[in-house]
Amino acid sequence: MEKLVVEGGVRLRGTVEISGAKNSCLPIMAATILADERCVIKNVPSLADITTMVRLLKTLGMRVEYEGDTVVIEPTKERKFIAPYKLVSTMRASVCVLGPLIGKIRQAEVSFPGGCVIGPRPIDLHLKGLTALGAELKIQRGYIIAKAKRLRGATIYLGGHFGSSVLATANTMMAAVFAEGKTIIENAACEPEVQDLADFLIKMGASIKGQGTPRVEVLGVKKLTGAEHSVIPDRIETGTYTIAAAITDGDIIIKGTRLDHLTAVIDNLTEAGVSITHVKGGVRVRRRGGLSPIDVTTLPYPGFPTDMQAQTMALMTMTKGISVITEKIYPERFIHVSELNRMGAEIHLEGSSAIVRGVKQLSGAPVMASDLRASAAMVLAGLAADGRTDISRVYHLDRGYEQIEEKMNTLGARIWREKED
Ligand code: EPZ
Repeated sequence: MEKLVVEGGVRLRGTVEISGAKNSCLPIMAATILADERCVIKNVPSLADITTMVRLLKTLGMRVEYEGDTVVIEPTKERKFIAPYKLVSTMRASVCVLGPLIGKIRQAEVSFPGGCVIGPRPIDLHLKGLTALGAELKIQRGYIIAKAKRLRGATIYLGGHFGSSVLATANTMMAAVFAEGKTIIENAACEPEVQDLADFLIKMGASIKGQGTPRVEVLGVKKLTGAEHSVIPDRIETGTYTIAAAITDGDIIIKGTRLDHLTAVIDNLTEAGVSITHVKGGVRVRRRGGLSPIDVTTLPYPGFPTDMQAQTMALMTMTKGISVITEKIYPERFIHVSELNRMGAEIHLEGSSAIVRGVKQLSGAPVMASDLRASAAMVLAGLAADGRTDISRVYHLDRGYEQIEEKMNTLGARIWREKED
């Protein structure tokens, strides 16, 4: 196994290019199951999760070619409907083949995804949406077994205890594309990735209105054609590099991104003293002066994204004063707290809030990456810490950050991989 070594203390400078959004790309790739023809997806990031989705689609009888930043997917006559445990267990997002399989083949057997280190991750809303459209679902031997003789449009309220659900909205929308009549999804997730998926489905011939709002309307159609689509830039990668500049007191240009997808993050970071401005050729990030503590609460879009919570906490560990970071999407997503404290941070948990007392300086330490965004927080903390930080279980980062050490090193960082002892 490999670990990532970060030698801290460099102020980042230079330009970084943002990749396509993983969380857009995965459901979009799954949506190609609905098409009768070849689809071309561009701006695809080179990530372990994308490779897993390629394998899953091949298992389902799709022909997939993945070269550079383009994936070409074509249906074959050998359609299958079983998404096996060994693939779903490595990537929870595999569950987003459920909606397209029911929509197109009217049959699906998808391994039940289960929880993960960021806490329980139920799928009741996925099942609610698909059942409302007429699918019959049961859980057997760890699989969701689904059948649908007929799919009919329905009005479906998709809100749970923690608000809307990104992939439940995606699954319901994808199955509804072939349902008879009109489907209305109330409390639909508004995340840009859901909008991107809807835009792709529309290019394929689907009739969808209201994407990006809490009320999405889908009018069933008989077939979808192939389509070509370029995935939106990764807003979480953008946010992560923004914090990399801020935490190192650097000055960087971020290219190929969309700030309109990051309003809450920009608002909070600006309050903390980070300057984020459009300049020719990109977005310039640097500090305005010293940083101030902020209180942040994660919420569904357009609120502050849970996927930026750990990185924001890393920034606050060295910001004088007290910051309160409250997690309202995954109340247990705090595994990074103990690792940051190993580096000298002063954070304690009160329920689903982290109270961060800023310290003068973090010091490098061996730490454990526990999930994708927690791993990113370790890299950020390591960039600003004294000395060397060894981050084990680097495979988490490879799931969601394209070429992280190459991109960071272009900005002057000193990051490399070593074999774990
Ligand atoms: C997506 O997961 C993202 N994954 C996650 O990104 C992200 O953290 C999350 O949305 C929230 O923004 C992909 O897009 C592949 P949810 P998803 O359903 O769709 C509860 C990353 O690091 N809920 O929107 O699975 C749930 O427990 C990752 O890239 C139910 O109660 O998340 C949570 O509290 C990790 N019942 C809230 O809704 C359900 O049936 C939002 O989860 C489904 C979800």
